[in-house]
Parts: sequence; C-alpha cells; structure tokens
Amino acid sequence: MEQEPRLKIAVQKSGRLTENSLHLLETCGLTYSRGRDQLICFGENMPVDVLLVRDDDIPQLLAEGVCDLGIVGLNVHLEKSDPEAGVRKALDMDFGRCRLSIAVPRGEPWNGPASLSGRRIATTYPNILGRWLDEQGIEASVVTLSGAVEIAPRLGRADVICDLVSTGSTLAANDLEETMVVLESQAALLAAPQAHSAWAQRMISRIEGVLRVRGSKYIMLHAPRAALEEIRDLLPGSEAPTLMPLEGLEDKVAVHAVCSETVFWETLESLKGAGATSILVLPVEKMLA
Ligand code: PRP
Ligand code: ZN
Repeated sequence: MEQEPRLKIAVQKSGRLTENSLHLLETCGLTYSRGRDQLICFGENMPVDVLLVRDDDIPQLLAEGVCDLGIVGLNVHLEKSDPEAGVRKALDMDFGRCRLSIAVPRGEPWNGPASLSGRRIATTYPNILGRWLDEQGIEASVVTLSGAVEIAPRLGRADVICDLVSTGSTLAANDLEETMVVLESQAALLAAPQAHSAWAQRMISRIEGVLRVRGSKYIMLHAPRAALEEIRDLLPGSEAPTLMPLEGLEDKVAVHAVCSETVFWETLESLKGAGATSILVLPVEKMLA
C-alpha cells in the first residue's frame, strides 16, 4: 500500500514564536508525541509532523521542499526568503508582534534617518536594512553580524544598530535608545511552492479558522422591531444577523450574530441604550468559512 506523504510544518525551536505556534497547531486538532531528540513532533491523529528548527532556516527548508508549511516572523521571511524560490506568505497571524528598529547609544543626538549617513550599522538583517536605506536615500555601511548585535556599539564594531525589539528590555540593558522603526513584524504562515496537497490546504484553512475565531464572539439579544436597524449597525463586524420571532411578543425579535471584532462593554451599553434586552455574549469555539 502506498503511504500518503506526511505534511511537514516547520516551527521555531525555541524563541518568541514557539509556544504560540505549537498551541495554534494543537487548537487545529493536531495531537503529537515529541521525539526523543525533541526536534520532531510526530502527529498522532493526522499525517502531519512538526519540525522544530532555527527560525532563520525555515524559509530555506520550504524552498528546498523539506517542509511544506512554516511559521516565522515576517522579519525572517523578508530577510531570508529568496524571491525566486516561490515561498509565499499564506497568512498573517496575530501573535509574535515585534519591530525591527534603529537604536543608538543613549543620549546620542537623533535627527531622523539622515543621522545614519556615513555611520556603521550593526545588524543581522542586512537585506531588509539595505533596502530600507536605499528607500531613504541614505549611504551607510552595514555591518552584518550573526548575533549579539546589541553589544556591537560598546565593542566599537559599529556606531548604531538595527535589531528586533519586542519588550525593549534588551535595548534598555545595553543603554541603547530606539529611534526609528524599519519594519513592523508579526508571525506569518509560509507555504512552500509545492504545498498543494489536501492536507496542506486543510491545515491552512484550519489555521485561518482558528485565527478568525479568536477575535470572534456570538451575540444573542432581544431587540424591539423598531430599533432593529440601529442595533444591527451597532453589532461590530457582523454581516447578516439571524432574526427569530419570540413567542407571544409581536414587537420584539431575537437577534443572533457572529461578530468578527472585539465586543467591548461600551458596545453592550450602546446596544442596551438602543433598546436591546437579554444580551448574551458567547465565545466561538470553531468556525469554518
Ligand atoms: C531578538 C533581538 C533581541 C531581543 C529583543 O532576538 O535580537 O536580542 O529579541 O527582545 P526584547 O525587546 O524583548 O528584549 P530573538 O529572540 O528574536 O532571537 P534570534 O534573533 O536569535 O532568533
Ligand atoms: Zn532567529
């Protein structure tokens, strides 16, 4: 019997995306056992395995066809993916937010990008930085390092740095000040050019569903018929609410709606102000478009 090829998903081995990425795949229904070397998670209930690798290697693993899908920061995709290789971004994911920024030694004067002219900038992102400098029309020398960028100014290897910032504590600990954002980043789902199998499509749409559901709520309320239009306009990100008659009440209907945007207390207060009663907000567990 011919074995169906197993889908391989590359995930950062240890870092800011690891926990969220694995949790997301579990929410998509994947259960797995972790190999002895801790580098492969074997899917138990689907033909899907997760490879734990260095995030920087993920674009190439996809380009070479070793893996079919991968979760990386947009920063890694834009830095490492060869545009010729056909690795595409399938989804933006709402976690792992950080930014690639210019930072200068504390107290140093900063007058915008022009301050970088003729300076040495240490980074592990020479491609993104180089493109950005070109766009800004700045000539500077890019010092490419493989890590520990934040200590380069102190070591005299560079004047300023261009590095990832998330909480800002690395910069603060090294007496550096963030002056300008070069790129806003968040996690992205990448797909290899050959990722067309049914399981690849299925995982992409399940992940999409999980992400959509995270921000969604199911709202139920009773609305006076006269206020229906106003109430419908107040429901955040909902296209077509369901209306149902209420036994014994002529002038009211039940309204059920999936809201794709955050439902704040203010929204509920406005709904109440418009005449809605018995308002219930429920979490949505699964959704398939
Ligand atoms: C980045 C960056 C800093 C740190 C900043 O490294 O190089 O060291 O995160 O985060 P903070 O603002 O919260 O202090 P990352 O963890 O992404 O490691 P990697 O680049 O080696 O993958
Ligand atoms: Zn990395």
